[in-house]
Amino acid sequence: MNISIKTPEEQQSMRVAGRLAADVLDMIGPHIEAGITTDDLNRVCHDYIVDVQGAIPAPLNYRGFPRSICTSVNHVVCHGIPGDRKLRTGDILNVDITIIKDGFHGDSSRMFAVGKPSVQGARLIQIAHEAMWRGIRTVRHGARLGDVGYAIQSHVESNGCSVVREYCGHGIGRIFHEDPQVLHYGRAGTGVELREGMTITIEPMVNAGQRYVKLLQDGWTVVTKDHSLSAQWEHTILVTANGCEILTLGAGERP
Ligand code: MF3
Ligand code: CO
Ligand code: CO
Repeated sequence: MNISIKTPEEQQSMRVAGRLAADVLDMIGPHIEAGITTDDLNRVCHDYIVDVQGAIPAPLNYRGFPRSICTSVNHVVCHGIPGDRKLRTGDILNVDITIIKDGFHGDSSRMFAVGKPSVQGARLIQIAHEAMWRGIRTVRHGARLGDVGYAIQSHVESNGCSVVREYCGHGIGRIFHEDPQVLHYGRAGTGVELREGMTITIEPMVNAGQRYVKLLQDGWTVVTKDHSLSAQWEHTILVTANGCEILTLGAGERP
């Protein structure tokens, strides 16, 4: 394992990258409405990242991924490929943005609902959001990754939902997916010890039904095996002595 500690200068570059990823999500929110396709969302984000931000959309051609953002609708867990499917009232979707600016990555995702979501959809979105924040609140110099996983898993499961185990958060910096792996389940007091200057993502995927997933034939789209709804939120954070700094806060979002 090779976990990089960011220098103050690198931390500043990560702040800039994180800010840009959050700005894309702030920008795209109002575009999400019935009748628009996920390819439309991809195009609007791509053009904003390239033309307005002077940044690079990290997913495009990453291990062969064919678009600039991920859009994961309803029972899609993650890595949904934007396409010609029109959004419908009641859909819930995750938009996952990763940008590269001056060599550093910023990675964040949020849930959106098209019109009014079902009661179950709204509740799932809320539980996943709370789970991400509970995980984030455990982070500080000297905490362990098992503390993060335990906080997330216990909240999710006590609400009758499940945590996906095949995909995880990650270190992030000059490389999109760096060490360490940040599992969203685990035992408190175990695992890698966090150090000031590490930058990681926390991005729990929470299913309304069972935790099992399957990968579609396109090689990317991950769906719930039981076709239950899935929700995910993601922030990029910097570990500090007494807690963490959230690098991808949205406009008006407070820790
Ligand atoms: N943004 C995702 C993450 O949070 C990774 C997407 S990889 C892609 O780690 F190739 F699908 F874009
Ligand atoms: Co990520
Ligand atoms: Co992401």
